[in-house]
Amino acid sequence: MLQIALLGFGVVGSGTAEVLTENQKQIAAYCGDEVNVKYILDLREFPEHPLGDRVVHDIKVILDDPEVVLVAEMMGGAHPAYDFTRAALEAGKSVVTSNKEVVATFGAELLELAREKGVSYLFEASVGGGIPIIRPMQTDLASNEILSVSGILNGTTNFILTKMKNEGAEFSDVLREAQKKGYAEANPSADVDGLDAARKIVILAALAFGKLLNPNEISTTGITGITKDHTAVADKLGCAVKLIGHTEKIDGKVLALVSPYLVSGSNPICHVDDVYNGILVDANMLGRALFYGAGAGKLPTASAVVADIIDVLSHRFTERKLPVWVPAKADEIAAVEDYACRRCYLIEGCSRCAEKAKAALGTDTVVTLEGGRFAVVSKEMTEREATEAIASTGLTPIFCLPVLD
Ligand code: HSE
Repeated sequence: MLQIALLGFGVVGSGTAEVLTENQKQIAAYCGDEVNVKYILDLREFPEHPLGDRVVHDIKVILDDPEVVLVAEMMGGAHPAYDFTRAALEAGKSVVTSNKEVVATFGAELLELAREKGVSYLFEASVGGGIPIIRPMQTDLASNEILSVSGILNGTTNFILTKMKNEGAEFSDVLREAQKKGYAEANPSADVDGLDAARKIVILAALAFGKLLNPNEISTTGITGITKDHTAVADKLGCAVKLIGHTEKIDGKVLALVSPYLVSGSNPICHVDDVYNGILVDANMLGRALFYGAGAGKLPTASAVVADIIDVLSHRFTERKLPVWVPAKADEIAAVEDYACRRCYLIEGCSRCAEKAKAALGTDTVVTLEGGRFAVVSKEMTEREATEAIASTGLTPIFCLPVLD
């Protein structure tokens, strides 16, 4: 019997117990032995739950039990999740986690500690919910240089943007619905202000380029400012408004950002709707590959946690190669002003203003909207160049969104 402990018995923790119970036989077959949840660490009691008798309130019980070989951390938040993870690794136990905050903030040191202790630290569920993305990037794409990763990384905001587009719904009503469905973070500001996506793109950037950026320091804009104007412009241009995390290298430096984008209809991410996530990886040998699936929710996320549990337990007799991440130094991080893409501006003004904007932005792409407004899409230019070009026209844009082609 392989003994494991679950830290946190909320949405993902209880989902993990459900997956382990429901698919018990096939999981045992993969692991070569039965997997038993010996402990569940939570502040609460769960007297009605079949595993309610496994609940403990003191992490020491788990750390001091030599039978426990693996800890699945699904507590959320930085502390005490990080502290318990360190303690479990120190105690020679492998850790798997869905906690993107801990991975994005402390991933470099936790991977290093796991390596030192000869155990594993896996985090498939931290990005893209149930979508396999972390393991494929580490294994199937190992023969490639990653050129860029662009993704819809937050299910809650994609659910909201899809409803706003399809039903003309109000932001706050849809947010409540997403919370009820268990998609949103405990504090939904992390979803709608983009921090959750920032943590996830930082993890993907580290996998792609080996440098771990600080998720609190990358350029991050959420969706609270998205209005019907944005949706109308997107419609006119055959695009959709999506919250995108993007990473690429610019002159050898790593860029990572989160922003609402206009995603072109020709890009498969444009059609990723509802709570689904879509992650487009551009690799130098493979080309573009889309990873698509349920990006949030109890069982999809638990499915990824259990995949890591199986991975650790089925490879318990072999040495694992964990990725090496190094915290990015200031001179290894690209400035967002150097990021080149097309940009869409909504501007109030007459046809003469539109001509001026077209000339400055080197483009012919203009559509007119009601209320004496027009939207113009620049040629590909850096943010710095685009800002200077618009300033030279004397026009004041109502908004500017980057375009993902
Ligand atoms: N709140 C997150 C989301 C959960 O909506 O994507 C999954 O990380």
